[in-house]
Order: sequence, then structure tokens, then C-alpha cells
Amino acid sequence: MTVADATGPGDTVVIGDKVPMPVLGLGVFQLSGRQVRTSVAAAVDAGYRHVDTASIYGNEADVGRAARDAPGGGVFVTTKLWNSDQGAGSVRPAFERSRRALGVDVVDLYLIHWPVPRLRLDSWQVMEELLEEGKVRAIGVSNYMERHLDELLAVAKHPPAVNQIELSPFCYRSRAAVVERCRQAGIVVQSFSPLTQGRMLRDPGVAAVAGRHRRSAAQVLIRWALQKGVVPLPRSTNPQRIAANADVFGFALTDDDMAVLDGLDRNLVVQPGWDPTGAP
Ligand SMILES: NC(=O)c1ccc[n+]([C@@H]2O[C@H](COP(=O)([O-])OP(=O)(O)OC[C@H]3O[C@@H](n4cnc5c(N)ncnc54)[C@H](OP(=O)(O)O)[C@@H]3O)[C@@H](O)[C@H]2O)c1
Repeated sequence: MTVADATGPGDTVVIGDKVPMPVLGLGVFQLSGRQVRTSVAAAVDAGYRHVDTASIYGNEADVGRAARDAPGGGVFVTTKLWNSDQGAGSVRPAFERSRRALGVDVVDLYLIHWPVPRLRLDSWQVMEELLEEGKVRAIGVSNYMERHLDELLAVAKHPPAVNQIELSPFCYRSRAAVVERCRQAGIVVQSFSPLTQGRMLRDPGVAAVAGRHRRSAAQVLIRWALQKGVVPLPRSTNPQRIAANADVFGFALTDDDMAVLDGLDRNLVVQPGWDPTGAP
């Protein structure tokens, strides 16, 4: 199964050779407490089986609780190592804090949140140990551009299973090379801020494509990611939008639609200062 062939949000793509990961995930950045629990519950109701959190979001305990409470269980949870926890001696305690907060024995996917200079290779070695010890099912990275990946792939015993990067039609050309590099290396790409944090949902180019398919702008952006072979992680706290954002498997964008959307690129980075393209 490839991401582009998926027929529902619970369909999976294999990462790290053996771990099934659902092709659509719920983002929970900036959500806390009750908001997380109600959003995850609404997502599970709508068929999501994948939630993306991070230690820096401060909501791992709520995510863990909501995932455990999900009827039928089996919710795939990603969390991330924060920058100040990088380095040989810090990764393991940070990981144990995350694992405790999530309330799990084994973390599904653990990512390095950002390619911190001088520390990231040492951090990766500890991530590999956690994988070999069976404490995580898969390990990966986030915000890695080609130079960070090449440096890592040259020495890694276990290559990253996933690279989570900002990706949308508005942030596309600057990411095309890294997406291709991941494809060549068998690394699955996840897209964060696939809805541009709401900023470009009124764009006329997206609206024209959405109108042709009688879909919302958000659905078009999520469908665009899936057809690029990328796992999108849209965030919403609104149960109707959460459900609509997963209702993207009953239509397909044409090659012309994809070309229109690809042409919308404007090098958008939605969070100021969170652009890894120039990161050393
Ligand atoms: N690795 C990293 O460095 C990194 C960085 C940023 C984000 N992330 C991950 O990626 C996830 C998603 O990215 P994001 O949170 O930046 O933003 P996003 O998913 O691009 O956009 C979220 C915004 O879109 C709105 N929205 C959602 N569905 C909508 C719809 N159908 N119609 C209209 N508006 C809609 C939401 O508002 P409502 O809640 O009102 O619906 C919210 O304001 C994060 O939550 C996080 O898990 C990772």
C-alpha cells in the first residue's frame, strides 16, 4: 500500500520496514487538556488512527489518555525529542519522560524535532539504541533538509523511517528536493501545517480546484498531500472539520488540478523562524 492508494484514514503505509503507520494523522500543536481529549475522540470517531504530538507541546499525557480511551484502541502516536534534550546524555531521560507521560510501554514513533547542530548525530545514536531495545517501534527526524539527511544517512546504523516537514502547495518547491531524497532513501514524508495554519484556505487557486470537486479548500490541500505520497497531519479542534478533513478518499485530483496547486508555491513558512532550509 502506498499513501496515494489509500482508501481511508486508517489505511497504513509501512515505515522502517515493518511498522504500519496510518496515512492521515491528527495534529495537536498548541492544544491542551480537554481540547486534546475531545479532538482526539472526535478524530477516532471519524476514523483517524494516528495522532502527532511532541514533548514541547506539553500535552503528551492528554494525548496518551485519549489514545488509551479510544474504542478499539490501536491509535498510533508519534512524539518528538525537543532541542534542549538533544545530546548523548539527555535523550534517554527525555524519552522516559515522554513515555511516562504517554502512559505506554512502547512508543510508536519517536522523532528528532529539529536538526540541532553538533548534537543531532549523538542524539540519533541513542534513538537507535531505543529502537534496538524495543522501546520504540520506529525512529525518525523532523525538519531535516538534504544536508541533514545526507549527513545522517552516511553514518546511521538504522536510517530514519520518517521525515516530518512543512509541506503544502504554498511551501513546495523549496521542499521538492528533500521529498525526492526521502523517496530514494525509503523515508516516508509527513507534512506538518498541511493547511497552512488556516492562512491560505481562501486562496483563489485552491478555491477553483475545490469548486470543481465540490470540496472544501482544506480537503483539497489534504488530498494534494496524499497524492504526493505524503502523510498529512492536519490539526483541528472542531469535530465537523476533523471529520471533513478525513473525508478525502472519495475523490481524486486530476493531473491538471495538481499542476494548478503546485503552481501556488510562494515559499511560505507559516511559523516565523521555523524554516530549516538554511539551518547549519
Ligand atoms: N515537526 C514540526 O516542527 C511541526 C511544526 C508545526 C506543526 N507540526 C505538527 O503538524 C500539525 C498540523 O500543523 P499546524 O497545527 O501547524 O496547522 P494546520 O493543520 O496547517 O492548520 C490548523 C488550523 O487550520 C484550521 N482548520 C483545520 N481544519 C479546517 C477546515 N476544514 N476548515 C477551516 N479551517 C480548518 C484549524 O482551526 P480549527 O481548530 O478551528 O478547525 C487550525 O487553526 C501540528 O498540530 C503538529 O502536530 C509539527
